Amino acid sequence: MNSNLHIFETPEKTARAVAEIILSTAREKNKQSLPFNIALSGGNTPKLLFEILAKEYDDLIPWHFIRLFWVDERCVPPTHPESNFGMTYESLLKNVPIQDANIFPIQGEIEPQKEAKRYQTILEAQLPLRNGFPKFDLILLGMGDDGHTASIFPDNMVLLHSEMPVAVSVHPVSGQKRITLTGNTINQADEVVFLITGESKAEVIRQIINRSTGFVNYPASYINAHTVAAQFYLDDAAAKKL
Ligand code: 6PG
Repeated sequence: MNSNLHIFETPEKTARAVAEIILSTAREKNKQSLPFNIALSGGNTPKLLFEILAKEYDDLIPWHFIRLFWVDERCVPPTHPESNFGMTYESLLKNVPIQDANIFPIQGEIEPQKEAKRYQTILEAQLPLRNGFPKFDLILLGMGDDGHTASIFPDNMVLLHSEMPVAVSVHPVSGQKRITLTGNTINQADEVVFLITGESKAEVIRQIINRSTGFVNYPASYINAHTVAAQFYLDDAAAKKL
């Protein structure tokens, strides 16, 4: 089986496997007295992971070494039900001892173009650069039913190759504006992990993993880490067509 594939019976087991990656990398960084720079995705899937991290890993992870960034954000205030930061705060941040100074939210309430520039400035100040783009240690991604990832949608694939590290995008169905890391930024990361669960993702996963007809239309097909391939953590439902 493809070494980049990690398949588990349930969403809980899949999320726990990703939590173990975060724990082991955090411990490694702690040993080296290095910060652990992670960019988190939003949507629904990672909520379970965040709840598991808060409940079962709160005493295990050296949170003081973790610096949290976001892959993307909806252009809404943090109190809005669709805010990725809001979801992360409720399911994780308010329950673990991570310092506020180490949390770098995208500000969804700011005018989008202005916020994209502000966030780029933050990333370039807080992170090392690789090939001119901010470099994360780990980026956690999800994938939509349409094969989008981050907020790079199939109708705007140009964001995969943008020279800007952060961009404004628009959800193709809702028209909601988003702030997103671009493909070049994501692909500079040391490690990229997709956490994808549910049967609705199975057909697109089949095409992406098998590089079969149609995969070229999905932004998630163009994502890899700098030195290793992106790792896919899937539950049985998302992997059912493999
Ligand atoms: C977002 C995410 C996005 C998400 C996919 C999957 O802001 O929505 O960053 O890329 O990962 O849309 O979303 P679900 O986990 O809700 O299926």
